[in-house]
Amino acid sequence: MKVLVVGGGGREHAVIHKLLENKTIEKIWCAPGNGGISAEAECVDIKATDVDNMVKFAKDNGADFCVVTPDDPLALGMVDQMEAVGIPCFGPHANAAIIEASKAFSKNLMKKYGIPTAAYEIFDNPEEAMAYIKEKNQFPVVLKADGLALGKGVLIAETLEDVKAAVRELMIDRMFGKAGNKIVVEEFMTGKEVSVLAFTDSKVIKPMVSSMDHKRADDYDQGLNTGGMGTIAPSPYYTPEIAERCMQEIFLPTLKAMNAEGRPFKGCLYFGLMLTKDGPKVVEYNCRFGDPETQVVLPLLKSDLFDIMRACHDETLADMDIEWSTDACACVVEASGGYPVKYQKGYEIHGLDEKGQHEGVFVYHAGTKKENGKYYTNGGRVIGITAKAPTQKEAIVRAYAAVEEIGFKDVHYRHDIGQK
Ligand code: AMP
Ligand code: GLY
Repeated sequence: MKVLVVGGGGREHAVIHKLLENKTIEKIWCAPGNGGISAEAECVDIKATDVDNMVKFAKDNGADFCVVTPDDPLALGMVDQMEAVGIPCFGPHANAAIIEASKAFSKNLMKKYGIPTAAYEIFDNPEEAMAYIKEKNQFPVVLKADGLALGKGVLIAETLEDVKAAVRELMIDRMFGKAGNKIVVEEFMTGKEVSVLAFTDSKVIKPMVSSMDHKRADDYDQGLNTGGMGTIAPSPYYTPEIAERCMQEIFLPTLKAMNAEGRPFKGCLYFGLMLTKDGPKVVEYNCRFGDPETQVVLPLLKSDLFDIMRACHDETLADMDIEWSTDACACVVEASGGYPVKYQKGYEIHGLDEKGQHEGVFVYHAGTKKENGKYYTNGGRVIGITAKAPTQKEAIVRAYAAVEEIGFKDVHYRHDIGQK
């Protein structure tokens, strides 16, 4: 089997590393890939959002299966286009990817089908949004760009002044472009956050091991929201009782709701949950594997990822027994100094062997490039260092021991991954 994986971050590295355990796979391409991924797959210089050229490449090279991991190509309909030329895919069609691509869609879906989430209103006019928040007078309040914004289009306002600035950024200055045509204004929830990724073929849903992201840039949840600065799996707060409640109140109702809307979802559905005092509620849906959640979840998968992906496509997931390790994982992201705002690229990364790896951990490459056998920084999030161990504590200690030995100029990472 020849497989094309679309994307080029730590998540794609984790997917490819796992797929390679399947002995029927003779070839993996990754487009565009990155320096570290090139040790495991052939990187192809096509942008993840270049649907036409991606489909042409897959067809011309006889790809048997395609894994579309990032949100943008999913929202652009890459799966629809691949399948139109006969290439089966793992990932949702565009009409189902909207569950992430439009927060207005997902909030309305949850309201219509009684799926627990924060109370909200949607606005396409900045004055009306301001007037509503002023009248409600409840702080903090959460403002979210409707569209895709690299996980950064969420602003939490503590005062009316903050709200003014947030509305200006999202709707007038258009910091996230068209994503700010509409905004969702939402009640602020408190509680522990848990990420649950789930395999689904639209008929059944099989949750993976839970995980916990650390979204803020700095220690103790200070600083700006990022794509994610580190993760642990499983989440210590996600008990079997809570898992069962989520299955009945959130996962199954979401699957049914998407089917009822004529938008069957196949692929990886990501539930960002808040465990509030009133029970678990949805913070967000993603239509794909999370990053860096995938870097701690997939190493714990004992079953064959490629078989599961094909079952999701073929709608035979009910027949699959998916097994998980009882170990724990921790992933610490090393980012470029200044991320998520402004940062330099091109610094040499020390502490890696010729395959971009380091003993005792797995190094998932996100923003790296390889030149003359050396690795250089090439993005905001550079690498994710994952350790696996029988206990969470040990995994965290091992990951940080490697963090001490791998680095580059102006490296920035959180020191408190897994501490809360
Ligand atoms: P999202 O991109 O929707 O996951 O939001 C990014 C982060 O903002 C979440 O992981 C939460 O930490 C925070 N957040 C989003 N919505 C809310 C909410 N309604 N109440 C409290 N925190 C929120
Ligand atoms: N780590 C959060 C996300 O992938 O959206």
